[in-house]
Amino acid sequence: MNEIKSVADFEKKIKRVIITKEEIAQAIEKAGKEIDKIYDGRPILLVSILKGAFVFMADICRSVSVPCEIGFMCAKSYYSGTVSSGVVQITMDLEQDISNYHVVIIEDIIDTGRTLNDIVKLLKGRNPLSLHVFTLLDKPDRHVVDFKADYSLFTIPDLFVIGYGLDCGELYRSLPYIAEYEEK
Ligand code: IMP
Ligand code: MG
Repeated sequence: MNEIKSVADFEKKIKRVIITKEEIAQAIEKAGKEIDKIYDGRPILLVSILKGAFVFMADICRSVSVPCEIGFMCAKSYYSGTVSSGVVQITMDLEQDISNYHVVIIEDIIDTGRTLNDIVKLLKGRNPLSLHVFTLLDKPDRHVVDFKADYSLFTIPDLFVIGYGLDCGELYRSLPYIAEYEEK
């Protein structure tokens, strides 16, 4: 059950903005250019991990110039409040056979690293032409598995963040900026 019953309850939990809408837009333009540079005109498949990466995916796919298809997977890492349980489950798989694609995984955040570690292993096993990982946010202090993205737009300290696709209890995904969540 969500304890948020009003706009005042909702707003009280937004502690402070850590990355503005403008900073996100600028970083996305740069990341799009990097994807164009890596693939140099070759078509790609952007694979977004739902739900958290849906907003990032919508912006990143409009920042690239190479021909791109999009695909979605849904991974659930069970959270109790703001703490990960360590169990990752794929609840919806890609529809594409990726063996003929250059794949770019589009993820919202690397926390423990478990989700991407599992997904990368799974997708590499399907023999894509190539595979790169782009993440919007990375919290290096929180990693428990040795996983590194090819490209992180922002590195942040050990904070629970919301907005721009990221939720707490399914709320706050619609904020246009990234904010620290007020735990109290
Ligand atoms: P992992 O611990 O790296 O496997 O991260 C799993 C997932 O937890 C991410 O893809 C996010 O959906 C979610 N997550 C991790 N840290 C945060 C956070 O600070 N805010 C909101 N969601 C988070
Ligand atoms: Mg996620």
